[in-house]
Amino acid sequence: MSSKERQIKRIGVLTSGGDAPGMNAGIRAVVRASVYYHITPFGIRHGYDGFINNDICEMHAGSVKHIIHQGGTILKSARSNEFKTDEGMKKAWENVKEHQLDALVVIGGDGTFKGAMEFGNMFDFPIVGIPGTIDNDIFGTDFTVGFDTAVNTVVEAVDKIRDTATSHNRLFFVEVMGRDAGFIAMYSGIGAGAEEILIPEKDRGVEQLFESLERTSQRKKSSRLVIVAEGDKNANVYDIEEKVRERFGDRYETKVTILGHVQRGGRPSCTDRVLASRLGVTAIEALRKGRHGVMAGVRNRKVEFTDFEQATKRNPEMDRELMRVANIISI
Ligand code: F6P
Repeated sequence: MSSKERQIKRIGVLTSGGDAPGMNAGIRAVVRASVYYHITPFGIRHGYDGFINNDICEMHAGSVKHIIHQGGTILKSARSNEFKTDEGMKKAWENVKEHQLDALVVIGGDGTFKGAMEFGNMFDFPIVGIPGTIDNDIFGTDFTVGFDTAVNTVVEAVDKIRDTATSHNRLFFVEVMGRDAGFIAMYSGIGAGAEEILIPEKDRGVEQLFESLERTSQRKKSSRLVIVAEGDKNANVYDIEEKVRERFGDRYETKVTILGHVQRGGRPSCTDRVLASRLGVTAIEALRKGRHGVMAGVRNRKVEFTDFEQATKRNPEMDRELMRVANIISI
């Protein structure tokens, strides 16, 4: 029987990589859709580490009650180094056989899908992915689960920083997450009305910042906010502050705030809950139809599937239109 025709009776679900608000809604949808289609769901705890260590237990519709509004992931998460090895994957395969799993749903980012692709190819095992990361850096979906909540968390924090920045006429540099991509910085920067947004995708970052500070230093602006993506290739946030001090002396009183992991927690927004619920159901339905080796995403409001290979190799492009908008409104 080919993998396409395999009947799905037992499905595993795990969350892996950096946790993201909305992952619980995704787990809930996977479990509920499984039960709906008479499939037995199994929760795998601690991501691929739990897959290797047999931290797997059966779930029921009731296992996922009262979690849709909770941040984090009830299944816990991990970044597994062991799963990158053949030995680790072979151990996990033994657990697949022990629990007679017919398929797997993984919720996570780039690293999660790379692991899924290799494991799926090695053992001809059906896996479908759901994009769950606050970074929004996955090709094949307009938004990842967790991004909307994270940018709203950032905007709320930056609004507060603006209050104190204005009271003291200060220039704040706020570092936000986004290891390789500037989506959190770009969206929250526009949403919070930042004067400058420094992202890895932009080459002229610091020079542009100097020009804008030069331009506006004559104007009586009571505060300035610069959002810096942690992955900005020009420098880290403290280096940037240092460069500004060297260039402008005491023309600006500068402060640095690193928002850090506060961005990863909190109640998921409705947008994230809906996205995760939709993709959770989609993943189960796709597996039932024999579709696997793909990530389920939403593009232009429609569900679309992207091969793991594409989803992991290609990077989503930063919207040039947004960059232009940010430039125009920050004069
Ligand atoms: O991948 C999401 C993310 O939050 C990145 O933005 C950040 O660089 C990284 O995870 C931090 O990971 P950790 O919590 O393992 O330090």
